[in-house]
Amino acid sequence: MFAFFIVLIFGFHFQTNQFKYVGVTKCVSSCHKSERQGKQLEIWKNSKHSIAWKTLETDAAKIIAADKGYKEMPTEIPECIRCHLIGRDFTPEDLSATFEIQEGVQCESCHGAGSGYMKMSIMKDVNKSIENGLIIYKEINKLCINCHNENSPIKKDFDFESSWDKIKHYKP
Ligand code: HEC
Ligand code: HEC
Ligand code: HEC
Repeated sequence: MFAFFIVLIFGFHFQTNQFKYVGVTKCVSSCHKSERQGKQLEIWKNSKHSIAWKTLETDAAKIIAADKGYKEMPTEIPECIRCHLIGRDFTPEDLSATFEIQEGVQCESCHGAGSGYMKMSIMKDVNKSIENGLIIYKEINKLCINCHNENSPIKKDFDFESSWDKIKHYKP
């Protein structure tokens, strides 16, 4: 009985630290799309972030990968996946069944895995959300540089001001 209790406590701690990526569909199912909320869905959908995974399926991507000496398809190469999906390495356990890889760089790629903070009761409270996995940025630039940097085989110059202007999605 005592041992069972220990396992319960341990299991609980493990779970609360293990936030999962739930996918853009969950983020926008009832929120984050209306004019009043700031049309986050539409702005993201119209940005290139939403096609970042599909880009890895193109011939251009295959040529880049082959030039770098890879034999695999770009969608199977961790280096490419890192920047074209959630901005870090991960294991299948980090993704919940609702997460769709094809949606590319999505809400949680920037805001953090959402399984813990997606509940309305938590989301309403910024501090509670942060405790449950939401990431807030003091310097937004640093978030972008995680993927927009010289390790990209494309290496376009990244101008933060004009780039953020294209994708920002504040509440009006
Ligand atoms: C998880 C990685 C990742 C993060 C974080 C990220 N981006 Fe991107 N971004 C990409 C990828 C990959 C593309 C290319 C998508 C494509 O064309 O398929 C891209 C494309 C873009 C584009 C379109 C560029 C073009 O040539 O038209 C803009 C603008 C942009 N990002 C802005 C930003 C800004 C601003 C930030 C920070 C707030 C940011 N990104 C953070 C990965 C990321
Ligand atoms: C360090 C992050 C990073 C890595 C690693 C990365 N990419 Fe990208 N990729 C980007 C960003 C950011 C862009 C958008 C271009 C820009 O605006 O700089 C991009 C754009 C692209 C594009 C579209 C170029 C265009 O003209 O629209 C292709 C194709 C691409 N990447 C393929 C790959 C392949 C294949 C790999 C693996 C070998 C890879 N990328 C690895 C960040 C990365
Ligand atoms: C490329 C990174 C990136 C992506 C993708 C992204 N966001 Fe954001 N978002 C940010 C940044 C940076 C801010 C500014 C606040 C902050 O630092 O957290 C922000 C702000 C917000 C805000 C607060 C707006 C306000 O005025 O208070 C909401 C809500 C939001 N994002 C929802 C979403 C949703 C929903 C998606 C997906 C449809 C999404 N974001 C995709 C980076 C991103």
